[in-house]
Amino acid sequence: MTALILNSGMGTRMGELTASAPKCMTALTDGETIVSRQLRQLRQAGIRRVVMTVGAFADVLRSHLAASAPDMEIIFAGNPDYAQTNYIYSIYCAREFLRDDDILLLHGDLVFEDAVLGIVTGQQQSVMTVSRTAPLPQKDFKAVLEDGRIRAVGVEFFENAAAAQPMYRFRSEDWKIWLEEIIRFCESGDLSQRRCYAEAALNHVLHRMALRAQDVGKLLCAEVDTPSDLESVRAQLSSLQPRSVYMCFSTDILHSGHIAMIRRASSLGRLTVGVLSDEAVSGYKRLPLLPCSERRIMFEHITGVADVVVQETLSYAENLLRYRPDLVVHGDDWSSGVQQPIRKEAADVAASYGGLLVEFPYSADAKYADFEIRARLEPASPDLRRGRLRRLLAMQQPVKVLEAHSGLTGLIAEQAQVYENGTVRQFDAMWISSLCDSTARGKPDIELVDISSRMRTVDEIMEVTTKPVIFDGDTGGMTEHFVYTVRTLERTGVSMVIIEDKTGLKKNSLFGTEVQQTQADIAEFCEKLRAGKRAQRTPEFMICARIESLILGKGAEDALTRADAYTEAGADAILIHSRSADPAEVFAFADAFCQKHPDIPLAAVPTAYPSVTEEQLFAHGIRIVIYANQLTRSGVPAMQRTAESILRCHRAEECDAFCMPFREIIRLIPEET
Ligand code: SPV
Ligand code: MG
Repeated sequence: MTALILNSGMGTRMGELTASAPKCMTALTDGETIVSRQLRQLRQAGIRRVVMTVGAFADVLRSHLAASAPDMEIIFAGNPDYAQTNYIYSIYCAREFLRDDDILLLHGDLVFEDAVLGIVTGQQQSVMTVSRTAPLPQKDFKAVLEDGRIRAVGVEFFENAAAAQPMYRFRSEDWKIWLEEIIRFCESGDLSQRRCYAEAALNHVLHRMALRAQDVGKLLCAEVDTPSDLESVRAQLSSLQPRSVYMCFSTDILHSGHIAMIRRASSLGRLTVGVLSDEAVSGYKRLPLLPCSERRIMFEHITGVADVVVQETLSYAENLLRYRPDLVVHGDDWSSGVQQPIRKEAADVAASYGGLLVEFPYSADAKYADFEIRARLEPASPDLRRGRLRRLLAMQQPVKVLEAHSGLTGLIAEQAQVYENGTVRQFDAMWISSLCDSTARGKPDIELVDISSRMRTVDEIMEVTTKPVIFDGDTGGMTEHFVYTVRTLERTGVSMVIIEDKTGLKKNSLFGTEVQQTQADIAEFCEKLRAGKRAQRTPEFMICARIESLILGKGAEDALTRADAYTEAGADAILIHSRSADPAEVFAFADAFCQKHPDIPLAAVPTAYPSVTEEQLFAHGIRIVIYANQLTRSGVPAMQRTAESILRCHRAEECDAFCMPFREIIRLIPEET
């Protein structure tokens, strides 16, 4: 990037101060002039090539800079007609030095703090510095804004305008457009076109580029036109403190894109990194590979990071109000999608105490997208997926499980998200229901679908998803067979199998005592559990014992006796099933069970008592909530309605109204997007 500094003006409003030297040589502090400060800041920002337009006292300036900035490549471009023309003509005179590079354009009397330069040079698009919070100046530049874009720049605009400072960052292609217009103005033969602001030429061509307004809020960025400006800028400089900067990360893989972002953020001031809690990360994307405690240490050791704190929720509000950072930094990739409201809230909260949201371009490099995809898919590998249920259970929140019976329903369970109170809610795991798997095949739920067929469903779902899977193992079959099922499930990456204490021809529990069903003998069922635990090869795999006492009208006492025996036999979790519309019996069991076995996760299937909330269940110690059949039950009537509509109408138009277009459906399928 080349810096173009305009120093050809006369600076007459400064009076005596510009009698023998250009305005940019006005001293700000003991050691620095405006120009030497600018050059130091440019050097710090990595910009070494400077084109400087000069007019009066060019030689004085040259020798000042030879002493104060010997290591910079400064090209002086004189404007021989500086007294009669404006800087549009100075740029014209310098045009040959300004080709084919991005340009940072500065007026030579501009005094700004480091953060302003960091923000502006960190942008990829063309931007002009504005302040949306500063009052509109009467005489100085204002920018007319529309949707964040600049429509015109000039001193005469007041409507839809913001105070603007003459610091621009131009992409070379946009700069070329402006420069060509400047050349056209200066070569038009009309000398008044050499006396106007260069912005008059810019306004002619703004429609051919996207010049964005870069808000710098209350950060110091001011022109020194008069002795009173100088006094004000000196006062601000003397009280200037390093800015506090805040950034939050949810990532657990660090790549050079993150490091570049940290470097940028830390160049603006003292950087505090917020590490998103495991609960918040798993709520909106996936359980992180590394827990929060590890991610904290990882960030503590990165150069440029001064402090690391935990951000408990996706919402920035709490941490922003607690730490009140001057600048909140984020990639510009959150202005759409689920993060959009979070962004708006962060910007509003920061603005409420005088802070500013600063966005830097998120790297479009394909390799980063590739890393992200790999990181997203990594948890799908059997070894990582299997253990994630236990990690979810270690968190202080209910584990929400949705039924899936095909690749497509698996994708729905995987991707469904809703935004609620500054956070995103999604399901934590999938339930491969025997009822829904059988129903999808048009078969009754009587263990008729053999284990090999059930495994095909599991495979189909696991192939396209990453969330943990809980397998409905029916009765587990014969103990001698169950041990093989355990190994197969474990190898595939299933996290938990749930087997119910029934024997003989199993029927679905929702039939309760309306059909003949027999509960298993406690000792025999315990033996099955023990054999299963002996068979498993990894410590993470879980076997859950499902108690059918309430379903079969045997009462809570029987259920508790069985729970004691099953946990004693090694069950990693207990599912208490009920078909009562009132959750009271489930709550009573849960209260008693949790008192005795606080460390054993308890699961429930609130099909018959759907009004109960996850929070109510959790309050009674139920940590796994399984929505066991709702996708099937909502899908079937929708399909029947469609089929009947076609029959009734002799055509498909009427049902089109409630059919989703396929281009929306395929958005669920990762390879298609
Ligand atoms: C299933 O979903 O297959 C179950 C739960 O086992 S229930 O249908 O309620 O028995
Ligand atoms: Mg079942």
